[in-house]
Amino acid sequence: MSSSPEALLPKDQTLDAALRPASWDDYIGQEQIKANVRIVLEAAKKRGGMPEHILFYGPPGVGKTTLAHLVSRALETPLKSTSGVAIERASDLAAILTNLEPGTILFIDEIHQLSRKIEELLYPALESGTLDIILGKGPSARTVELSLPPFTLVGATTRVAQISGPLRSRFGGGVYQLDFYTNGDLEKIIRRSAEVLNLSVPKDVIVQIAARSRATPRIANALLKRVRDFSEVHERALSSVVCDEACTLFGIDALGLTKDDRRYLETLDRSFRGGPAGVRALAAALHEDVETLEQVYEPFLLRLGFVERSLRGRILSGRGRAYLATGALI
Ligand code: ADE
Repeated sequence: MSSSPEALLPKDQTLDAALRPASWDDYIGQEQIKANVRIVLEAAKKRGGMPEHILFYGPPGVGKTTLAHLVSRALETPLKSTSGVAIERASDLAAILTNLEPGTILFIDEIHQLSRKIEELLYPALESGTLDIILGKGPSARTVELSLPPFTLVGATTRVAQISGPLRSRFGGGVYQLDFYTNGDLEKIIRRSAEVLNLSVPKDVIVQIAARSRATPRIANALLKRVRDFSEVHERALSSVVCDEACTLFGIDALGLTKDDRRYLETLDRSFRGGPAGVRALAAALHEDVETLEQVYEPFLLRLGFVERSLRGRILSGRGRAYLATGALI
C-alpha cells in the first residue's frame, strides 16, 4: 500500500458525509471565519435575500467543502456541488446555472481551474444574475441574455494566487483563508468522529492520532478509520500500542510524516545538497509533478519549518536536517 499523504485521504464517501459536522457548533476551529460567515448569512436572512458570494482557500482537507455544506444548512437552501475542472464549456456552465433551484448555494471546488472564458461568462451571472449566451455561428450569431434563478456562489481553492483579480473581487461575502489545525482542535474532531463511528477510543490514542494528522481534519478522520480497521482485523482493543503498530505499518511516523515526505527531504539533502533546489528539478528527481509537491507535500513541511522556499528554490532547514538525522522534531 502506498504511504503517500494522498493515500490517507478517505475514499468512503458515505462515512465521510456522516463525519461532516452538521452544525456550526460541531465545526471545530477556524473561529474567526465562522464568526464572519455567520454574520454574512444572518444579515442576508434578515433582509430576506441571498448572501453575497464567498471564497474559501487553504490546503487540502482543512474543511472548505464542509463550510460550504454548513452555509447551505444555515440558510436551509439546497447545495449544488461541482468543480472547476468539470465546467469545461460554456454549455456546461449554462446547464448548471439555468437549472439551479432558486436560492441554491452553488459550490465550485478548485475554482482556480475555471478557464478565463468560463470566468468571463460567470461575471454577469455573479453580479446581475444574468448569463449571456451566443446562439448560432458566424454573421447570424446573436447574444441572448438569460435571467438566472438567485444563487450564492461558494468557491473553494487550494491555489488562491491563481484566481484572477476580477473573479476575486466578486466575492463580496468575503475571501477567507483556512488555517491548519492545532493538535487540541484535532483531538476534539477525532473524539467527535469516534462517537459518530461508535468507537471507544482511549484519550492517549486520540492524542497520538491527532499528532500524526498533519494538522488536517481530513487526515485525522482517515487515520482514525485506518487504525480502527487495524484493531478490528487483529481483534485487539484500540490502545496506544495498537495505534503505534498500525502507524508503523502505514509508514506514518510520530509527526505524521510518510515515506514520501522523508524521500522528499532526503532527495533535497542528498541530490541537491540541501538546496536551493528549483521546484521543477526537485519534482523531476522525485518523479512527481510540481502540483503534487506544492499542494500535497510542501504545505506541511513548510509549516513544520523543515523546508524553506526562497527565490532560488527549496532549502532544507536546520530543523529539517535534524529530523533526518534523528527522525524527531528538535
Ligand atoms: N471535519 C472536517 N473539518 C472539521 C472541523 N473543522 N470540525 C469538525 N469536523 C470536521
